[in-house]
Amino acid sequence: MAGALAAAIAIGWLAWAWYESRLPATYSVMDYAIEDDGGKPLPEHAMHMGVPVDSLKGPSGLPDRHFTLTAQAADVKLTSGRVVHALTFNGSLPGPELRVRKGDLVEVTLRNRDVKSGVTIHWHGVDVPGAEDGVAGVTQNAVAPGGSYTYRFRAEQVGTFWYHTHQSGAEEVRRGLYGALVIEPPGRHAGLNLPVVVHTLDGIPVVNRTDGIERWQVPPGTDVRLRLVNTDNAPHSFDIGGAPSRVLAIDGTDLHGPTLVSGRKLVLAAGGRYDVGLRMPVQPVRLAVEDTGVGVVLSRDGTGDPPIPESGPELDFTSYGIPARTPFDASSRFDREFTLEVTRKPGFFDGQPGMQWAINGGIFPRVPMFMVEEGDLVKVTLVNGSRGIHPMHLHGHHMLVLSHDGKPVTGSPWWSDTLDVEPHSRYEVAFRANNPGLWMDHCHNLQHAAQGLTMHVAYAGVTTPYLTGGSAHNHPE
Ligand code: C2O
Ligand code: CU
Repeated sequence: MAGALAAAIAIGWLAWAWYESRLPATYSVMDYAIEDDGGKPLPEHAMHMGVPVDSLKGPSGLPDRHFTLTAQAADVKLTSGRVVHALTFNGSLPGPELRVRKGDLVEVTLRNRDVKSGVTIHWHGVDVPGAEDGVAGVTQNAVAPGGSYTYRFRAEQVGTFWYHTHQSGAEEVRRGLYGALVIEPPGRHAGLNLPVVVHTLDGIPVVNRTDGIERWQVPPGTDVRLRLVNTDNAPHSFDIGGAPSRVLAIDGTDLHGPTLVSGRKLVLAAGGRYDVGLRMPVQPVRLAVEDTGVGVVLSRDGTGDPPIPESGPELDFTSYGIPARTPFDASSRFDREFTLEVTRKPGFFDGQPGMQWAINGGIFPRVPMFMVEEGDLVKVTLVNGSRGIHPMHLHGHHMLVLSHDGKPVTGSPWWSDTLDVEPHSRYEVAFRANNPGLWMDHCHNLQHAAQGLTMHVAYAGVTTPYLTGGSAHNHPE
């Protein structure tokens, strides 16, 4: 009797959990999330301002630079001759490298020729105004075949960024809808300045469009800046042989006083960027991407096969470079403090049973929404209570890393937009809420994001008129 009753209760609970987990055909990201005020009540008036996120547009006026990016399916020939049926911007892979100067008003027209699932462009790492963030179902509708959309923003940061679709991201980014975006400081620059965009296309590792070794002819004495971009879902490890080098920037923010290192492994988060600087020596230099066979060789005549560098100990950015003043630090008084803890637990995700990702115990869409007010100084503790690696990416802001596993950052200030939180580790980060909007905060293993490792940071009173799912078929992940 008791056993039958227990079974009935268990079945009833399961049925309820299943029923309750199903996502409706159409929903607003505002409706499901569990609001978290970070320990400080939000003023009533702010909550009722009703500022639509798509009113927070970039500046008007004549653009300094205009680009057109046309999303289209294309057969792309890699350097080995292999052909991949990819999704591309302008038929090229990666998409065209966009290079602008600090201060430029940038205007980009996105056209969709034939990508059936729709497309958007997100400016990864560029803290653009809220309406220009390119997230389907949050800041705009996905652009359907035949449609177009125009983005405008002022390039205020200097560094290495990238752009990619934020519609069905897990599928469309993997298939090729990404490219590098470089914002250069004003003035002229000598030397070689080279994006190294690492991706896996149809199972084939590539740097830029080379499925092998990309070679450059570089006169000795040249200042070289390698702009490493990881557009994959997992971290990549880089080794450099032939010259000492330094990490000049992380995620588009310069480090202070970075020292020369040799034989150190650089582990780059999915979605993250490192700028690596070196002075070209007489002998060749090799940048190797571990476990892929791809890389870059620099030599004075463009030939040569320098040895593959050995993998050394990982460079630790908590103690790299020289400290410098920051607008806030670990001793600041924070207006709001949040915890974002990732775990894995049994449950239902959109009606599917299995082991699911959870944020603070809740399975998507019952995940927290961090509520902030403009001007707040915000602290977030990122905790990974799972066995997976989660490159946590916050849109619209840069996070100052305060500590890693309790160890304070004692080197250069370290600003990040995509921070690899390793299994069972913890980071404390802080940011100034100075960019009103409705911002995604998600795992940049886009597979994980599609499985529910997605949440938002919302400014009180900012709303979205867009819906996920629905007639526009918006699917940001
Ligand atoms: Cu690189 Cu939410 O994106
Ligand atoms: Cu993840």
